[in-house]
Amino acid sequence: MEAIIRPDEESAARLVEKIMAGELRKIPSLVLGLATGRTMEAVYRQLVKGHEDHELDFSLCRTFNLDEYVGLPASDPHSYRYYMNEHLFHHVNIDLRNTHLPDGMAKDLGAECHEYEEKINRCGGIDLQILGIGKAGHIGFNEPLSALRSRTRVKTLSPVTVDQNAAFFGGAENVPSRAITMGVGTILDCRRCILLATGESKAEVVAKAVEGPITSMISATALQLHPHCTVVVDEAAAKHLQAAEYYRWIFENEPEWEEFR
Ligand code: F6R
Repeated sequence: MEAIIRPDEESAARLVEKIMAGELRKIPSLVLGLATGRTMEAVYRQLVKGHEDHELDFSLCRTFNLDEYVGLPASDPHSYRYYMNEHLFHHVNIDLRNTHLPDGMAKDLGAECHEYEEKINRCGGIDLQILGIGKAGHIGFNEPLSALRSRTRVKTLSPVTVDQNAAFFGGAENVPSRAITMGVGTILDCRRCILLATGESKAEVVAKAVEGPITSMISATALQLHPHCTVVVDEAAAKHLQAAEYYRWIFENEPEWEEFR
């Protein structure tokens, strides 16, 4: 795992966008794993700008989102399909048929989860997975105690996650109680992972995810097992990282990062 500390939220998001854009230019038919949430909005803004200003081409790109609420149709403004259309898909030249989210309205949710894994396999697996982190340490909706080898399935949201999302739904009582999410094992199978966390409210959980012991209580700690995972944080989210100076030194000296400094 690598940790990169950027001065603020905007530059952290810009770095993630630069990595994504670079991979997309290298492999136009890239299979991208995407996340939703407040943190990702800055990344999608930058990607849309990249498309408008520098003709960043999404025409062959395939995408798989991490998760979707159970019981929300795509037309619901709270659904993650709606979020993705609003923040990215409707603003770039992506073919919507190449964009995938689990169907939270599926009659047979178990079959839908199985089929989602199959679809990822048929596309050859995910090349680059973008992740946020919840206050409870989840990636996707892999709530505390998610098995580290779990696959796409239905999860009940933890009280911390319900609280975190309550504002978007006008109160905790309106937050759906379940979601379909890629499993921790599904995420670990992606060829490369980038986790973005910004703001002081994420500082404690970021320190646990990067420097703490691996535990199913904090699913993001499983990323320590991934062979190519980069955690990008701003100064606020880096506040409790013990080895911050070491991470800064690596970023400044590692040739791989030269074009990103
Ligand atoms: C959403 C997702 C979640 C979020 C996380 C952070 O698709 O997978 O794991 O990334 O809850 O959300 P924000 O960015 O709103 O703090």
